[in-house]
Amino acid sequence: MSDSTITPWVVGNWKMNPMQVNAKQLINEFKELLNKNEISQAQCHLAVAPISIALHLVKDELKQANRTVHVVAQDVSRMAGTGAYTGEVSAALLKDSAIEHVLIGHSERREFFGDQPHIIREKVKHALAEGLTVIYCVGESLEQRENGQADQVVLQQICDIASCVTAEQWHQIVIAYEPIWAIGTGKTASPEDAQSMHAKIREGLKQLTTLGSTMPILYGGSVKPENAVELAACPDINGALVGGASLNAASFYQIAQAFAHTK
Ligand code: 13P
Repeated sequence: MSDSTITPWVVGNWKMNPMQVNAKQLINEFKELLNKNEISQAQCHLAVAPISIALHLVKDELKQANRTVHVVAQDVSRMAGTGAYTGEVSAALLKDSAIEHVLIGHSERREFFGDQPHIIREKVKHALAEGLTVIYCVGESLEQRENGQADQVVLQQICDIASCVTAEQWHQIVIAYEPIWAIGTGKTASPEDAQSMHAKIREGLKQLTTLGSTMPILYGGSVKPENAVELAACPDINGALVGGASLNAASFYQIAQAFAHTK
């Protein structure tokens, strides 16, 4: 079971969306909703992950928000520091730009951009070394689930990064369990299935680190206002990584409320 002191996280992954004018509008609408003061810092961590060229725009817009909303990079280079690596943004450069959080290992990066475990390990290692918080994504495909391999696949993905995380660095990691078959499909894992996998991830983490019982484990995959409350009610679901629904300020806000008030 999770430590009941874990503060939930609700993170919006905007993926390759939206156009700049819409990003501005989206974040301003969200800021307006936050002005209602219904979600305190202590109740829920909030974060959004825009495209890389909008990180600063969104960060600047959020400076006038009445509470902290972290701005998260969607990926980071496997290369460290600075250097001749055209097109790349390193963890050091994110840190230098005051971006303190990064998604690593999202299934879309694993599937379309060659993020193999050894590459993911390099990304995680450099991000942690720069002091960034890593939201590390894991999840099985439909085929793997149907073949009864879901637990093994997900636990292996967790173990994949263990060798590059020092004992003290585990507190910089947030896990996001996103079954691939639930991403963008409207098909959410049932709260029972999600809870069951989260409990196994929790046990796996406890074997790897003494911080295992306090690490947040987020669920992602078609999270929406309609299913957020029942997901939030599951003891080992400590938040949500939200794709499509985070592109609508009201929906994202309702999901945040669900986690802030159910936990
Ligand atoms: P959806 O919420 O659109 O299913 O996306 C989930 C996701 O991949 C978040 O990282």
